[in-house]
Amino acid sequence: MSLQIKIDAAMALLRHIGDAFSPAVFANSLGAEDMVLTDLIAKSGAAIETFSLDTGRLPAETYALMQETKAAYPALPIKLYFPQTALVEEYVNQHGINGFYDSVELRKACCHARKIEPLQRALSGKKAWITGLRRQQSTTRTDLPEHEFDHDNGLEKFNPLVEWTEKEVWEYIRAQQIPYNALHDKHYPSIGCAPCTRAIAVGEDIRAGRWWWEDPANKECGLHVKIR
Ligand code: ADX
Ligand code: SF4
Repeated sequence: MSLQIKIDAAMALLRHIGDAFSPAVFANSLGAEDMVLTDLIAKSGAAIETFSLDTGRLPAETYALMQETKAAYPALPIKLYFPQTALVEEYVNQHGINGFYDSVELRKACCHARKIEPLQRALSGKKAWITGLRRQQSTTRTDLPEHEFDHDNGLEKFNPLVEWTEKEVWEYIRAQQIPYNALHDKHYPSIGCAPCTRAIAVGEDIRAGRWWWEDPANKECGLHVKIR
């Protein structure tokens, strides 16, 4: 399938989501896929609002891109959700500022306080959410559908770029000259929180730099893990 066909299909899907599942929201991590989706939502005119989860531990480059995106897409503001102060204070005072390196359990507890709880607030009262997930990103994502009912969060979930390759994502970014995270040019294909993301070596898996000290089977923060 050519990239243009995928672009047209994604735009049509985004418009359909905006029309049929209002209020619908786009979860924007400011990663490469999400910059493509930002551009597609802006150009399609789909009635979709954008939010981002600011964990408080994002890399400086991601904050710079957030500001750049605000200037580049004035009609598409990003609503930020922050973690609850009490939850972060409790975690940090008990386990330390970087307690997440000590065990998978403590890493998941940090992700819960800084991402999952804010995500639940961001999705509350919404009919659908949109993500930049792609099948090729990880062994945990190979069966990902374009559309499913998210039972854990109680709303529809759409992954419009599910079939896009990494090459196509970058072809789109270059052709449309859209902003992207400066870390991508420093061997960071996948970017999350600063202390939990590092550059990858040539030939390594694209998510190898995320929670690199953990077993690959654990490498999801819970934003997209099915409990039910
Ligand atoms: S993660 O689960 O490992 O952190 P990943 O970084 O691959 O996820 O991003 C997959 C999708 O999850 C993104 O395209 C985006 O839709 C959503 N997402 C991840 N992190 C955030 C964030 N901080 N704010 C909003 N959405 C996010
Ligand atoms: Fe905490 Fe790391 Fe998860 Fe960010 S990615 S919420 S710093 S454990």
